[in-house]
This record gives sequence, structure tokens and C-alpha cells, in this order.
Amino acid sequence: MQQRIILTGDRPTGPLHIGHYVGSLRRRVELQDSGLYDKIFIFEADAQALTDNIDHPDKVRQNVIEVALDYLAAGLDPQKSTLFIQSQIPELCELTFYFMDLVSVSRLQRNPTVKTEIQMRGFSGESIPVGFFTYPISQAADITLFKATTVPVGEDQEPMLEQCREIVRRFNNIYGETLVEPNILLPENAACLRLPGTDGKAKMSKSLGNCIYLKDSADAVEKKVKSMFTDPDHLRVSDPGKVEGNTVFTYLDAFCRPEHFGRYLPDYEDLDALKDHYRRGGLGDMKVKKFLAAVLQETLEPIRQRRAELEKDIPAVIDILRRGTEVAREAGAQTMAEVRRAMRLDYFEDAAFTAEQAARFQ
Ligand code: TRP
Repeated sequence: MQQRIILTGDRPTGPLHIGHYVGSLRRRVELQDSGLYDKIFIFEADAQALTDNIDHPDKVRQNVIEVALDYLAAGLDPQKSTLFIQSQIPELCELTFYFMDLVSVSRLQRNPTVKTEIQMRGFSGESIPVGFFTYPISQAADITLFKATTVPVGEDQEPMLEQCREIVRRFNNIYGETLVEPNILLPENAACLRLPGTDGKAKMSKSLGNCIYLKDSADAVEKKVKSMFTDPDHLRVSDPGKVEGNTVFTYLDAFCRPEHFGRYLPDYEDLDALKDHYRRGGLGDMKVKKFLAAVLQETLEPIRQRRAELEKDIPAVIDILRRGTEVAREAGAQTMAEVRRAMRLDYFEDAAFTAEQAARFQ
């Protein structure tokens, strides 16, 4: 039977925020604890982060530790999940190099994620760094080197997965069944697909200053929730309000569970009842924000506490990454041996090669 293998990761360009948490981190911990998977690889894509941070090596270096702390604090368990660092796996470069032969420039140009990112970063025409342009190929190597069957990521990664599957099919067609086609695993809840920033803008992003970080203090979370974007037309408490596009309600969709009402807002049975009242009018933003803050604090407090503990022993955190990287390298080396064999590049491993070539010249 085919093993079930999870692989996913993040670019270490900043500490993780609650968008990462509901979009992926929370799910990873559930998947990890479900016992349904044979192997779980979670990695920090530091080499990919460098593709558009070439001038900021120290930013990536520091955030490798921030993200590791967030992973562990959120509940990833190194006994169950292999945590590792991309740049420390040279086999990834090797596989990427061979994959480059399987992808055309025009196919990369059609990748929607690459397209938007090129626009976002203001690269024009041919000024795009080759490494940035080709990162979907390297991402396909990230996934296939570990024979991942399941890749839990946000919807923005869908084009990457599609491109990866194409590469796998092409490789297996040419060289014989070697690599595994992965499946994407998207977040279940629409609000979790892309949590907006606290200002209501489409995405949480450090540069917009609209993030709530997992490592934020209780005080900081409180302040950020108080100043959150709601319905700009909901001026008086008695006014009817809109729930759609109202960030406070979007966050509640992502975080709130029925039992939170019993604990923090017993006047309402559930989120639907709260939304109905808001729509009708008579429910003030402040009351909803207080509830959201309580829900967020309940979720974030244990993570904050674990993080504080972990911060006391950074060498132990680095050791977890070191050991995970060793495990990942071993798995990667095994796949690479199969890839070289399939590609007829296993000269020194294949005794028949010496015999067959010697015979050719007799
Ligand atoms: N591109 C992903 C992101 O920006 C990170 C990533 C790199 C990744 N390689 C991956 C995710 C492989 C899943 C699988 O979030």
C-alpha cells in the first residue's frame, strides 16, 4: 500500500500570524494528531524566501527561528512531525536541476501565482531573477523529493500543485513510474482560506501592518481587535449592520466554536443568532469585538505560554531542526537514488554499467 505522506511549509520571512494559524497551522496539528499519516514533513522554505529577499539574508536567518518557535508553540510535535530547513537539503537542488528540463518558459509564465507575484513585486519584463521565476519548479522538487501524497496549503498554492503534478506525470512518462503525484488539501472553512487583515484588506501582510501575530501579547491582541475594521455604515448601535465583508465576523467564522457562547456571550445561542441581531440592528461593534477578543485570547494564550517556555531554550529548538533535517536528508537521498537510476545516471551504483560499456568496446 502506498504510504500516506504529508509535506508542507512556509517561507520564513516573518513570525506567523493568525491567518497562517487558521489557514494551515491548526490543520497541520490536527492531521499530525489524527494518526492517519505515515510520515509528516513540515519545512521552512528559506531558500525559496531568498528568491525575493536576496538583500535580506539576516531577515531569513532570524525568522527561521521565529517560525520554528511558532510551529512548536502551535502544537507541531517533533516526535510526530519532521521539522526541517530547505536549504540544508542539497538533494532538492539536484532534483530541481533535472526538473528544469521538463518545464518550458511559457508554462512558467502562465502560472497564475507567478504572474501576480511578478506584478506585486514590480519586476518588469526580463528583470525577473531566474531563481524567482523558476521557484514553482523548485517547489515541485520540495514536494516530490519526499514522495508527498498530501499537501495542505492555501488556495493560492493551487497553481503550484498543478504544475508539480504535471512535472511528475512528465517525469514518470519519460523515465518510468518513480515519483508520486500529490494532492492538495485546502482549508475547509471559507473564512480560513484567506483571513483578511485587521483593516479589512484582502490579506494579512507585515508591510500593511494589519496582522495579529501568534506571538503578540494579550495586550496587543486586545488593542488590534478594538481597532478592527467592521461595517463602515454601521454608525449607531441601532443601525442595521452588514456581516459580509465585516472583518470581525470573518474572524469569528474562522475562530469561534459553539462552546465559546456559553463561556463569553451566553445571551446568544450561536454565531448565526449573533449575526441575525447585528443585521437587524441594536447590536454594537464593541460588544462583538469584546467577544472576538475573548475567543482569540482563549486560542492564543496556550500558544503564547508554550512559546515563552520554548524561548528559554533556543539551542534545544535548533537541535530539533538539526535532527529533523537529518531525517529529511535521508528520505531525500533515497528518492534521489531512485531518480538517478530512472534517469540512467546511476553509473557507479550499477554494476551492469561497467560490464555493458566494457563489452561495447571489445
Ligand atoms: N510557497 C509556499 C508559501 O509561500 C511555501 C512552500 C515552498 C511550500 N515549498 C512548498 C508549501 C512545498 C507546500 C509545499 O507559503
